[in-house]
Amino acid sequence: MLKLENISKIFPGVKALDNVSLSFEPGEIHALMGENGAGKSTLIKIITGIYQPDLGDIYLDGKKVVMKNFRDAVSHDINMVSQEIQIIPDATVAENIVLDRIHQFRKGIALDWKKMNETAAVYLKKVGLDVAPDEKTEQLTAAQKQLIQIAKALSSKAKYILLDEPTSSLTAYETSNLMKIVRQLKKDGVAVIFVSHKIEEVLELCDKVSVLRDGKYVGSGDCRKLGRQDIVKMMIGREESEESLGTLNIREEKALEAVDITTYGQFDKISFYLKKGEILGFYGLVGSGRTELAKILIGLEKMDEGRVLVNGQEAKIRSIRDCIEHYRIGYVTENRKEEGLILDWDVGSNISITVWSRICSRLKKISLSKETKIVDEMIDKMEVKTPSTRSRVGNLSGGNQQKVSIGKWLAANCDILIIDEPTVGVDVGAKAHIHDLIWKLAKEEGKSIILISSDMPELVKLSRRILVFRDQRIVGEIDSLNEQKRSYSEISAEIGKYLA
Ligand SMILES: Nc1ncnc2c1ncn2[C@@H]1O[C@H](COP(=O)(O)OP(=O)(O)OP(=O)(O)O)[C@@H](O)[C@H]1O
Ligand SMILES: [Mg+2]
Repeated sequence: MLKLENISKIFPGVKALDNVSLSFEPGEIHALMGENGAGKSTLIKIITGIYQPDLGDIYLDGKKVVMKNFRDAVSHDINMVSQEIQIIPDATVAENIVLDRIHQFRKGIALDWKKMNETAAVYLKKVGLDVAPDEKTEQLTAAQKQLIQIAKALSSKAKYILLDEPTSSLTAYETSNLMKIVRQLKKDGVAVIFVSHKIEEVLELCDKVSVLRDGKYVGSGDCRKLGRQDIVKMMIGREESEESLGTLNIREEKALEAVDITTYGQFDKISFYLKKGEILGFYGLVGSGRTELAKILIGLEKMDEGRVLVNGQEAKIRSIRDCIEHYRIGYVTENRKEEGLILDWDVGSNISITVWSRICSRLKKISLSKETKIVDEMIDKMEVKTPSTRSRVGNLSGGNQQKVSIGKWLAANCDILIIDEPTVGVDVGAKAHIHDLIWKLAKEEGKSIILISSDMPELVKLSRRILVFRDQRIVGEIDSLNEQKRSYSEISAEIGKYLA
């Protein structure tokens, strides 16, 4: 049994953990939940030796242990999948999987590649990832990298496995496969600690849930006896409201129009439009082409044929800079860890990066007071939990990084926003807050928004028209959601029909 006693951890400006005591049993799937910044990842990092507690002790089977680093934890049969993707891009898939025990594959002075690839293949199969062990990891998607991290933790054969938001970038199919793996671990007597913001997933998979709030332990409960609202209440101190949003003032003019967009071998004559003041949803499975299409619209990827019109005029968009400065289009990336933020920069600079041209004086110096004002407003609006605007973004909790990544585009004051998977990894309260912000941008400020989301409830709640994507084509459109009130189940069934 793994037991934590009175653990506290202080970072400059925050008490990340405050006197937390918890225990984790073999053969039990124990969920750890709480708002963004509650201290979940910090706790995981303390159990795995990455951080040292300032106060408190860790016991394994009754014996006090001190783990000075991750290697120490591994030698105590503890392993983890971290929230951040930690993959070495120019190493192969197999090297990444066996990294912690690569010495076992030494053959003289060289490495036994054959044995390494064979070992890796076993775990790749287990996690359902269809890539070659000798492939380089650089080009893989976020979901594939996540699965490699899971394969790596499994291959360690640890007795304690900690999973920090393992499903945040996985599709429904991969998630259900992961659940099978975790249930097998439980059968094998492994203690699994599972961090997630997805309440339904936790209720389905886990035995027990413990909740942290502002670094403090709130309580634990039996997942078979709890409902969604019980957990929400433990996390945010109140129940969530579930009112529908009403109607938008959508205008007849088109803010954006794509005509016959073609990229050889991928898209064939894709056409659609976005009206002013509209929220247009893009639904589809991962890989159905939604993000690729967005990247063409903003000039990050080239098209071979076709046209893009902005406000009825043909647009030549060659870069993100063109997008912001000439066409006032913003793009919130789904991949904040690798594209959305500069993790070594502070919060303020990450937010103001999109508005530099607006706040530069004629001397091309950044007006500090203007920058501070925009940044402060945005931190306030997004409710970003950070000790100061000068804190390094990489030190914020995952969900708070996501808020900064959206906030910087709101600060840019664009007329058209393409928002890709806005609430991956954010807690229920923050999710409702981000929904509210997106809705107000359209309703009160008349912005036109394309919302790409794999979260069907989110998409249905916010969109007033939905395009369904499959295999790089638009296979269906669900219209008149602004005029008619339709139930969630009716809309999701219609989407399902297009995908069947
Ligand atoms: N290395 C660090 N330096 C400074 N502050 C940190 C560091 N790591 C975490 N923090 C702070 O500690 C607090 C807890 O962060 P933690 O990452 O544990 O939250 P979390 O519960 O995992 O949140 P999320 O759901 O967003 O991932 C936050 O306020 C965060 O900013
Ligand atoms: Mg975290």
